[in-house]
Amino acid sequence: MQRRVFSGIQPTGSLHLGNYLGAIQNYVALQDGYEAIYCIVDQHALTIRPDPQELRANVFEAARTLLACGLEPKRCTVFVQSHVPAHTELAWILSCVTSFGDLSRMTQFKDKSDQAESKGEFVSAGLFGYPVLQTADIVLYKAAVVPVGEDQVQHIELAREVVRRFHTVYGELFVEPQALLSPAKRILGLDGQFKMSKSRGNEIGLLEPAESVKKKLAVAKTDEKRKRRQDPGEPNDCNIYSLHQYVTDRAEVARIETECRRAGIGCVECKGILGASVERIAGPIRARAAELDAQPEIVRSALKEGAVKANEIAQKTLGEVRERVGLR
Ligand code: TYM
Repeated sequence: MQRRVFSGIQPTGSLHLGNYLGAIQNYVALQDGYEAIYCIVDQHALTIRPDPQELRANVFEAARTLLACGLEPKRCTVFVQSHVPAHTELAWILSCVTSFGDLSRMTQFKDKSDQAESKGEFVSAGLFGYPVLQTADIVLYKAAVVPVGEDQVQHIELAREVVRRFHTVYGELFVEPQALLSPAKRILGLDGQFKMSKSRGNEIGLLEPAESVKKKLAVAKTDEKRKRRQDPGEPNDCNIYSLHQYVTDRAEVARIETECRRAGIGCVECKGILGASVERIAGPIRARAAELDAQPEIVRSALKEGAVKANEIAQKTLGEVRERVGLR
């Protein structure tokens, strides 16, 4: 059997450059040499209680963007989490071998529950159990490799712990998953401060028009100590430079580094080059997404086919799990 790759992505509106560089690029590459399975995790998205209409639209939008980025239904499986009911059933079973203490230590839970409390909102049990559902997603497919950005590593470590605990109680059944990070494991947003994310509003959207990206770059943070064009800059203190490293060719990055230090290049020009580099990646994705917009049945049928393939694997594993734990 080919080794399996699994990953999940939330349908949060528009996917951004951080998603692409940190994870989706690896999803695309891993279609070769692995059996690759990718899931749009709409049930995870419920933890932020999105508007139902919006959630439905966002699921389609995420699928369209993933296909536009290069996922090919012939080479991989793309499906929607809620189309495969085994995920939530397995999550319940796994939650019974997951330590409350371990879940309490998840930094994403701490961040999100702090955010909820500061807004006077309650902290849902769904938010607390989120990593258990994530574990179920992965182990249902006995995936060995999980391409993710750095923010998900703690969740994958938890998944390994849950698998070990299940094995201790019920015997070997699953595969312990390994996170696979890309060099761009943590892309900062244009504020230069926080991880790029839709919720922070500091993102470059993958389908965002070039003009709009240009406007965002124009006001993006650079090396704050460089006040005037003639001042030398320090690339290592500049988020624009750090973005260049993932999207601009190496010789050009080296030139920018040297020229910035000797004030040979200004921030405006440097941002212009970055805009062009982003467009080299995003332009073809946008074009393909527009084609898919005109042929939504391609996206729908990919998800339908994906659900059939995913259900087949998931049902088999769930049958084994039920047997092991004594549910039949
Ligand atoms: P999500 O939807 O927040 O992000 C999808 C993927 O994009 C990566 N990512 C980033 N990488 C680098 N820099 C950034 N600024 C950046 N922002 C996002 C994320 O690390 C992720 O790989 N809990 C997961 C979804 C999930 C999942 C799974 C992942 C559910 N089940 C099973 C793997 C396996 C999440 O919220 O990702």
